[in-house]
Amino acid sequence: MSLGWKKVLTVATAGVIALSLTACSSERETPGSNGTEGGQSAEAGGLIGIAMPTKSLERWNRDGSHLEELLKEKGYETSLQYADNKVDQQITQIENMINQGAKVLVIASIDGTALAPVLETAASSGIKVIAYDRLINDTPNVDYYATFDNYKVGTLQGQFIESTLGLADGKGPYNFEPFAGSPDDNNAKFFFSGAWDVLSKYVTDGKLVVKSGKAPKSNDDWKSIGILGWGSDDAQDEMENRLNSFYNDGTKVQVVLSPNDSLALGIAQALEGAGYKAGDGGDWPVLTGQDADKANVLNMLAGKQSMTVWKDTRALGDAVAEMVDQIVTGKDVTVNDTESYNNGNKNVPTNLLDPQVVLPDQVQSVLVDSGFYTASDLGL
Ligand code: BGC
Repeated sequence: MSLGWKKVLTVATAGVIALSLTACSSERETPGSNGTEGGQSAEAGGLIGIAMPTKSLERWNRDGSHLEELLKEKGYETSLQYADNKVDQQITQIENMINQGAKVLVIASIDGTALAPVLETAASSGIKVIAYDRLINDTPNVDYYATFDNYKVGTLQGQFIESTLGLADGKGPYNFEPFAGSPDDNNAKFFFSGAWDVLSKYVTDGKLVVKSGKAPKSNDDWKSIGILGWGSDDAQDEMENRLNSFYNDGTKVQVVLSPNDSLALGIAQALEGAGYKAGDGGDWPVLTGQDADKANVLNMLAGKQSMTVWKDTRALGDAVAEMVDQIVTGKDVTVNDTESYNNGNKNVPTNLLDPQVVLPDQVQSVLVDSGFYTASDLGL
């Protein structure tokens, strides 16, 4: 993969560089049968289809229920569906939403390359589509994308490893095991590239030693270490295999790149099973994550995960509910990046939000004080 997609900052007229939660440009939307003709404003209301991948991961439950609540507050009806990570099931759910007369579809895809035919049907009925969190590829019929900066998620993970281990100061070598996300998830390559652009030089110069040999040769090769479906159990199996095969001589793994929390959870289970100990004097490795799932935040508090990259799903829901309303009422739709996300057919206008590192000692000040968790959720 070339780095042509790498984030291009929007340069405003005064020469000010802006990339923030606030939109810095927007698109004129001219809805068809569902919206207004001739630029007049239309009434909010009608059915909005929300297609989520699975209930098995905590974040999608939060995403779905928050978005549904916001849209209802704005006067919309909703059809919120979860597809058990099954592509065919998701396609059927989207077909049903089209048949029920949805005005807008908000889709967090399972396989971003599998929806072109059903989205052609949506487009022919004048339905607008927002890709939610994950881009939908190889189709002209995705109108907008709303997500956190996926490349930056990986960069933050890579930089955390770099600074925690003192790699830039020449420290090392450390035994390192990298993982990547699901090969069918368009985000996973961004997560990996962001991290690998920071870390690969240390692998090349021997400061990070991948005893399993599972170090992709280039960013493009990331699928070779991808965990299909993002399953914790599969990550645990993979980590157990690596520990049993390559660390059975008394050597210890000292750092693990995990692209998200579901994988980090499985990796932590494997470490636990192999007798690694957290806390002072322990040998628990540096372990990254993403999402601030509750089980992982508890692991952070217990010294079993070093950080998470938090994407406040409430902010994404807020942004998407606003975009839906703008589409339906014929207003300008908020986007702030029209360069970075090419889906193989076109650059999809994107509303990009900023992810944030959370460290164990910031759980209270960031996750609890913002109301993402209550103190009692976390036993604090
Ligand atoms: C999301 C992550 C999530 C992963 C697994 C990705 O597309 O961006 O937040 O951890 O899917 O569900």
